[in-house]
Formats: sequence, structure tokens, C-alpha cells
Amino acid sequence: MLSEQSAATVRATLPVVGAAIGEITERFYAGLFEARPELLRDLFNRGNQAAGTQRQALAGSIAAFATHLVERPGGRPDAMLARIAHKHASLGVAPEQYALVHEHLFAAIAAVLGEAVTPQVAAAWDEVYWLMANALIAIEKRLHEESGGPVWRAWEVVERVAETADVVTFRLRPVDGGPVRDFRAGQYVSVRAELPDGARQIRQYSLSGTPGDTLRQISVKRVPGGTTPEGEVSNHLHARVTEGSVLELSEPYGDLVLDDTPDTPLLLASAGIGVTPITAMLAHLAATGHRAPVTVVHADRSPADHALRGEHEAYTAKLPEASVHLWYEQDAPEGTRTGLADLADVPVRPGTRAYLCGPLPFMRAVRAQLIEKGVAPADVHYEVFGPDLWLAAA
Ligand SMILES: Cc1cc2nc3c(=O)[nH]c(=O)nc-3n(C[C@H](O)[C@H](O)[C@H](O)COP(=O)(O)OP(=O)(O)OC[C@H]3O[C@@H](n4cnc5c(N)ncnc54)[C@H](O)[C@@H]3O)c2cc1C
Ligand code: HEM
Repeated sequence: MLSEQSAATVRATLPVVGAAIGEITERFYAGLFEARPELLRDLFNRGNQAAGTQRQALAGSIAAFATHLVERPGGRPDAMLARIAHKHASLGVAPEQYALVHEHLFAAIAAVLGEAVTPQVAAAWDEVYWLMANALIAIEKRLHEESGGPVWRAWEVVERVAETADVVTFRLRPVDGGPVRDFRAGQYVSVRAELPDGARQIRQYSLSGTPGDTLRQISVKRVPGGTTPEGEVSNHLHARVTEGSVLELSEPYGDLVLDDTPDTPLLLASAGIGVTPITAMLAHLAATGHRAPVTVVHADRSPADHALRGEHEAYTAKLPEASVHLWYEQDAPEGTRTGLADLADVPVRPGTRAYLCGPLPFMRAVRAQLIEKGVAPADVHYEVFGPDLWLAAA
């Protein structure tokens, strides 16, 4: 908890820091990467850095954390901390790196805000930083202990399946022949890929197979170029990774996991490649003989673009109380609808717990419709396939 004196200072300076936080984080990253270029090459996502999205996520999370501390001094924004800690743990962020980030962040704050940073202001924000950092370090330590192994392990691709024109599924087994730790439906692994320029770039991929499987399964959509460069890692995986290739994977992490309490109605909504964690959830429900109602919603460009469609249909067919609602922008077959997902006519049972994964506009629209239909905001869970900018708005 923040000391009373610091709370007053943070409250008074939040608007100034908030207004400058974009500039502060820009300077922070510039300073950090100038001092430690290997962090940009081998840890941070250089696509996100170029596009500026990760900066917004970090800045937003610190501002949200500070606001939380001054508005609800007794509590902690646990969901936000958990999401960041899972991501950090999957990347192998180490406790000692927090001091490095602190050094460059506070140098940036001093440079941007100048004389406004009195010793009192610096001390108050220092307290905010370390409260957040220590909370993250503690959760990350626990997650590493639970995972019980090194951050990175070598996995061999034993099968590569073309799902659609843009999506490939890889099935992998550990090179060391050791056991495959189970995952919870909804979790992801980080993949560390060595690129042709020698950089080792890390991305997350949701596990799209069945929990309990002896192989790891991920399904990767190629991110095409256009007005911006083509996606580095997804295109690398598509172009160069085949059966026999070896990839470095983290253990499974991620706090968006399916809670399948018996009798709770579920709604699983996905769009495009967001189908990956949702397929794992359906696989789990089918494998465990789930009997409560499950509403399955999916939207895609066309049936041919609907990755894992066969699995999606087969698992759903095994659920005794499932109802399926599909939207395709093109070539919608009978029994499905044309256009973007619209839940206006979809019955939603009282007490429904919802899981969403897809592009942000899709998730925003579905979430708004679910809340209109009486679903409690706390029962709408979601996964963002990129830096979570919803955190900033939280
Ligand atoms: C928890 C989680 C789970 C995920 N699960 C899956 C999954 O199951 N399947 C899947 O396919 N993906 C998944 N993703 C997304 C995945 O991690 C990658 O983000 C995705 O594959 C793109 O990575 P990339 O290296 O190909 O693209 P990047 O190189 O990271 O590029 C990303 C975007 O940034 C843009 N960009 C790059 N440089 C610039 C620049 N200079 N200026 C402006 N824009 C630029 C690119 O054009 C591109 O649009 C998941 C992400 C998360 C966080
Ligand atoms: C209190 C300190 C920190 C805060 C508040 C913080 C916050 C965040 C947030 C909000 C994200 C995005 C999470 C998401 O995708 O939803 C993130 C990702 C990340 N963090 Fe941190 N972080 C901190 C410390 C660190 C440290 C010490 C390192 C290591 C040097 C680090 C490395 C990363 C990396 C590599 C990512 C993923 C970046 C990307 O994909 O572009 N962070 N962090």
C-alpha cells in the first residue's frame, strides 16, 4: 500500500505524469535500447516497438496501477498484474531487470518533466514503481516455480498442417524426450525464433490442441505486409519451419483459462485466428463430457478461411447442449449468416460466463451486446493477440 504522503503526491501529479507518459515511455525505450541493444534484438518485440503499441501498454499499465492505488488503497488490480506477470514469465523476464528498467524509466521522467520532479515527487513515483515491480516479481517467481523447468526448451516439429491459405498448425514434441507439462485450455506458449539476421524474436501462440495431449500444438496465421512490413515471426514460421525443424518454446502461461464449473452456461466467441484458444476450450469440454449449455459463436472471412473448422465442429457436436452461430463475410453456407457477428438474435442465458478472442473491434462489439443482454461485466473474459491496450482503458 502507498504511504499517505506519497498517495497525496501521486494524486496531485497523476494528470501531469499521465499527460506526459507517452513521451516518457518513448524516451525510456530509446535510453534502454541504446544502453542494451540486445534487449530489442532478443527480448522485446521489435514490430511492436516500431508500431509503438507496447509503449502504450506499459505506460497505460503504470498509470492504471497508480490510479488504482490512490482510488482504492486497500486493493490491488490483480487481473492486470496477472496478465503482465504471465506474459513476463513466458518471456523469461528476470527480477534483476526491474532495476535496469527503473533506472531508464526514472531518467526519462526527469528528462521530460524537468523541475516538476521534486525529490518528493520522485520518491512518490518510486514507491509506485516498486510496489508494482515487487508485485510482478513475486507472481513471476511463483509461476516459474510452478512451471518447474528452465524458461526455454527445444521442441521438434513432428507435423505441419496447412489449415487455410494463411494458417499453419505445428505439432511439436520435446527434443529431450521428457514429459510434456499439461496446460489449461486458453493458455499460450512463447516461441523464440532465430531470424535470418541473427535476432531471436519472441511471440506468443495459444495452444490449439487438447489439454492432456502428449504433443504441443500451435496454429499460426501469417501476417501479410502492405502499408506496414509483413510480420517477422509468423512469416518466418510459414516459410522456414517444417517437419524436423526445432523451435524454442516456453512452458504454457496465460491467465485467460476456461473455468468450466458444472451448470454454468458458457459462451465461447471467436473471430479469425482467435479460434485457437477457443478450440482448446471446446476440446477440453468435449473430452470431459461437459453437460451444461454452451453457445459457440465464430466469425470469419469465409468458410475456407476458418482455421480449425473441422475440430471446431467436431468438438461442438460432442456437447449435448451446444448451439452454434456462424458468420462469414463471403460464401456463407446454409445454416450460417452473412456479414459480421451480431448477437442480437442469439439467446444468452442468465448467469452466462463468456470467453472472447479475436480482433479488438469484434471483442468490443460482442462484449457490449453481452452486457446489454444481462451478462455481468466480470463474467466476460477475453484474450488480446497483442499488447493489451484494454489494460490502459481499465
Ligand atoms: C496471448 C497471445 C496469443 C496469441 N495466439 C496466437 C495464435 O494462436 N495464432 C496466431 O497466429 N497468432 C497469435 N498471437 C499473435 C502472435 O503472437 C504474433 O503477434 C503474430 O504472429 C504476429 O507476429 P509477427 O512477428 O508475424 O509480426 P510482427 O513482426 O510482430 O508485426 C506485427 C505488426 O506490426 C507491424 N509493424 C512492424 N513493423 C512496423 C513498423 N515499422 N511500422 C508500423 N507497423 C509495423 C506489422 O506490419 C504487423 O502488422 C497471439 C498473441 C498473444 C499475445
Ligand atoms: C514495473 C515494471 C514493468 C511494468 C509495469 C511492465 C508492464 C508491461 C506490460 C503492460 C506489458 C504488456 C502486457 C500485455 O501484452 O498485455 C509488458 C510486456 C513486456 N514486458 Fe514489461 N513491464 C515491466 C517490467 C519489465 C521488465 C523489467 C522487462 C525486462 C527487461 C520487461 C519486458 C517486457 C517484454 C519483453 C514485454 C513484451 C513486449 C512485447 O511483446 O513487445 N518488462 N510489460
